[in-house]
Amino acid sequence: MLIDTHCHLTDERFDEDREEIISSLFQNGIERAIVVGYDRQSSSESFKLAKKHENLYCAVGTHPHDSNKYGVSDAEYYKELSNDEKVVAIGEIGLDYFYDLSEREIQRKVFVEQLELADSLKLPVIIHLRDAYEDMFDLLSRNVHYLNHGLLFHCYSGSAEMAKRYFKFDPYFAFGGSITFKNAKFCYEVLPIIDKDRILFETDSPYLTPVPFRGKRNEPKFTRLAVEKASEILNVEVDELIKSSIINARRLFTKLK
Ligand code: NI
Repeated sequence: MLIDTHCHLTDERFDEDREEIISSLFQNGIERAIVVGYDRQSSSESFKLAKKHENLYCAVGTHPHDSNKYGVSDAEYYKELSNDEKVVAIGEIGLDYFYDLSEREIQRKVFVEQLELADSLKLPVIIHLRDAYEDMFDLLSRNVHYLNHGLLFHCYSGSAEMAKRYFKFDPYFAFGGSITFKNAKFCYEVLPIIDKDRILFETDSPYLTPVPFRGKRNEPKFTRLAVEKASEILNVEVDELIKSSIINARRLFTKLK
């Protein structure tokens, strides 16, 4: 059984068959799934889904794309939700200089504010990071006092060299469908240098559908395809990776039952 540590089951692409997908998670080998918010509304919806289904948990937070909408009332709202046993992390938060949908300065400010929030709530953070590797390193270095409860780079696609520099923050790395893509050469360099105790798996569904289902909607059940690819890259048995990734997920997300 696997844990999909990052999915967006609140997405409208699941409107037709959301309940069906959730009720068939177990028979598809998914023991738990973490539904991740990216703004106030999706965090609220993720929370509601997690409250309704035993096998779902959630993360609440504001994505870098939506940083310009983040305010004090959102922080208060996330704080209120986080008292619940189903909220296992603050996320996804981070920096995205590829799309630049919010001003970079605002992205940085909102990211640090949510690091502080997560620390005050004793929760780990789920980090989205794209094309902002130096700034991320800089912000984490300057705010290391907020990193007492763990951090996860979700769908990490940076270089091995950068990953090594991040090691000083003792992060976890989650890999999903993108490691199965033909152009994903980076993962042959990145995966082998990461401690097995720090590797998790995810889908980011409905996005990043793995090979051979590209073009279709991604689903939590495809988590296994990322594990199979990692197993091939690392030359480690699939079952061994599944086992360690579940232990790792529960170590990081301490509220996950
Ligand atoms: Ni995501």
